[in-house]
Amino acid sequence: MKNLSAIILAAGKGTRMKSARPKVLHEVAGLPMLSYPVRALKALKAEKIVIVIGHGAQSVKDALGDAGVSFVVQEEQLGTGHAVICGMKGLKGAGGDVVILSGDVPLLTPQTIKGLLKIHSSGGKNRPTLSLITALLEDPSGYGRVVRDVHGRITSIVEDKDCTPAQKEINEINTGIYCADSGFLRDNLKKIGRGNKQGEYYLPDLVSLAVSQSMRVAAMTHADATEVMGVNNRVELARANSAMKERIATDLMYSGVTIIDPANTYIDSGVKVGQDTVIYPGVHLIGDTVVGKDCIVEDGCRIEGSSIGDGSVIKSYSVIESAEAGRDVVIGPFARIRPGSVLGEGVRVGNFVEVKKTRMGKGTKANHLSYLGDSLIGAGVNIGAGTITCNYDGVHKHTTIIEDGAFIGSDSQLVAPVRVGKNAYVGSGTTVTKDVPPGSLVITRTKERVIEGWGEKKKAEKKK
Ligand code: UD1
Ligand code: CA
Repeated sequence: MKNLSAIILAAGKGTRMKSARPKVLHEVAGLPMLSYPVRALKALKAEKIVIVIGHGAQSVKDALGDAGVSFVVQEEQLGTGHAVICGMKGLKGAGGDVVILSGDVPLLTPQTIKGLLKIHSSGGKNRPTLSLITALLEDPSGYGRVVRDVHGRITSIVEDKDCTPAQKEINEINTGIYCADSGFLRDNLKKIGRGNKQGEYYLPDLVSLAVSQSMRVAAMTHADATEVMGVNNRVELARANSAMKERIATDLMYSGVTIIDPANTYIDSGVKVGQDTVIYPGVHLIGDTVVGKDCIVEDGCRIEGSSIGDGSVIKSYSVIESAEAGRDVVIGPFARIRPGSVLGEGVRVGNFVEVKKTRMGKGTKANHLSYLGDSLIGAGVNIGAGTITCNYDGVHKHTTIIEDGAFIGSDSQLVAPVRVGKNAYVGSGTTVTKDVPPGSLVITRTKERVIEGWGEKKKAEKKK
């Protein structure tokens, strides 16, 4: 949107969070809550976004770093009015309207901001100088209350702590979402005083300032109170998370993903899931995960920062982290795929198999009870039950190479660095310490002995 400038307030400590972390960095659906108003403003193509930081300034900056926003530091947190004075410095004489948002209102959508802008720019000569969004809450405690005159016109906002008992009963609240004429802000922010219970410069005092100068203030009541809720403590954080989670699941379902039980499915913002994929309860899809189309993700799986190709099945209780799987892969149940693993098309990784920083070529199978670490495994390889790559000598990690078509018999150890050649066989129970030439069989087994009558002898000993 041309000429749209915005200030996001994010300097406060967030005392009610009881946290060492700045409030706005607490996460909602996998992203710091401050990144949501930034995204909403970006979606509206805001020309300039200034974030007012203070408490934990550096960590907030680092978390948002390359988002194409600028930062202004509010050294002392003297209140939201003072914070906007700081923010205006970052806008450097920009004219037009300024949208003011809080970093702790993560569910706000671009559509709602657009609605506010529309109200703010309508009315011709009589257009509002200041517009804000209000909401009706069953429990308005904690919020600033909207005071209206007998004609229903807004006259002021009174903070919860400053309310008279009668004002406490008002259930229309200020959401802290505003749009104002920049000239009005420059002239009036400095007029805000701090004669209130908290001794702070309250931004909402702009309402009474405008009204006293006979300027028009538009208060738009938003129907969805959840969308405009502020997050001030961990209870509200949990509420915001579940609302965001519901929104993400709803969007995915409308796009063609089956989610069996959305209330028990946890999908981060930005996760992508393809059409006709089915997601069972208890699944967590985290970070920048991509799940292809026609996949099945069974109960209790956790997939973080990974991509899963089309047609794959992730069976129950598997954990996949920073890994890549091709199409038609079957993983689990109870498999663990650790960072740096790349599984080719049609790979099978079965129960109680751990794969770390390992490549598995097309059609390779490790179906039971194995550890495969720091390995390069070709295509069409069969890894028998209980195979272990011994990648660590106590000081260094070493690589195991298993070439195409090799067969690793059950209960074998491959002591790295070692290479098993193309189409070679490793006999069950072998400890491989030297490279195995292509097409050969390696076996390290002591000769099998049978001692007859052993069992009877032992039983007789016990009876004595
Ligand atoms: C504020 C409003 C209240 C409204 C509510 C909506 C004020 C005085 N009150 O209350 O009317 O109902 O939001 O959610 O504005 N901040 C700074 N610098 C400061 C103080 C705060 O940047 O000096 C930032 C905070 O980091 C936060 C935002 O401003 O992101 C709002 O501050 P907060 O303390 O959460 O205000 P509320 O008490 O929720
Ligand atoms: Ca707040």
